[in-house]
Amino acid sequence: MTPAAAPTKDFLSIADLAGEMVPLLDRAGRLKAERKSGTVRPTLAGKNLAMIFEKPSTRTRTSFEVAMNDLGGHALYLSTRDLQLGRGETIGDTARVLSRYVDGICYRAMRHADVLALARAASIPVINALDDLEHPCEIVADLFTMHERWGGTFRGHRLAWIGDGNNVLHSLLLGAAAVGLDLTAATPTRYRPRPEILEAAERLARTSGAHLSVTTDPAEAARGADALYTDVWVSMGDEAEEAARLEAFRGYQINEELVGMASPDAFVLHDLPAHRGQEITDAVIDGSRSAVWDQAENRLHATKAILERLLRPRDA
Ligand code: CP
Ligand code: NVA
Repeated sequence: MTPAAAPTKDFLSIADLAGEMVPLLDRAGRLKAERKSGTVRPTLAGKNLAMIFEKPSTRTRTSFEVAMNDLGGHALYLSTRDLQLGRGETIGDTARVLSRYVDGICYRAMRHADVLALARAASIPVINALDDLEHPCEIVADLFTMHERWGGTFRGHRLAWIGDGNNVLHSLLLGAAAVGLDLTAATPTRYRPRPEILEAAERLARTSGAHLSVTTDPAEAARGADALYTDVWVSMGDEAEEAARLEAFRGYQINEELVGMASPDAFVLHDLPAHRGQEITDAVIDGSRSAVWDQAENRLHATKAILERLLRPRDA
């Protein structure tokens, strides 16, 4: 993680752009309006993005590819099954070679350490497209979704996270802390967020004034919340723990009863893919309180804002 105010070549943690989050969300809003009015400009004309994926993806891959295309650039999907990386070529050598061909790399990796290694060896920007520690691109879209629903402010609103203390919650804690959004996370004791992330988020929150707390009680988190957010109980890479996890997360489902405890205007977020009937019910995800499909769409607009910020010199 780089300090909040330092200029960053890469976007590996949401904390890397902590000081720029609100302008980034504003830019995502303008890009969304431009797409709707058909006035998108080719701000990334001539830019090429390599996309390395070690895990499956629907939203991230598609939003990056469409974003590059809409902005006049080009994206190449590189699965590790096809790259020499999958046959033992090092991450460093891959980074050095790709740096000679393309303008940026987005990387979905099994291990955060590999994302750091790629970024260290690359001379071009590297974007974390999800790893075991963080999912920063998701959280830019999520903050954008809340920001637009709350009329352009986070002040006075509280988000409740119900579920796993995973990559998405890690980035959400840091992102909420960056923008001054209050967040209560309810997780089973064994699946709390990592202490070093909580400490980093608390440090950011001291500047923004965000109030962050972690509990084991979903009702405590949900009561009076302005938005509820959940994610899968078994993330990619956690499959071996499936049985223990399904047991531990019983009682952490977002269902109509839990939504009924939130504020009357509260909406529900899920980064998707959802395991319907586990962390969220059909009635909630398909119901009137669901913001999930807007949230998924906003991945595209947020991704464009991220790509412009990283691939385009600011004075261009
Ligand atoms: N939310 C998200 O990152 O979805 P994908 O795994 O489909 O990219
Ligand atoms: N926590 C989930 C997010 C998927 C987008 C995972 O890592 O699988």
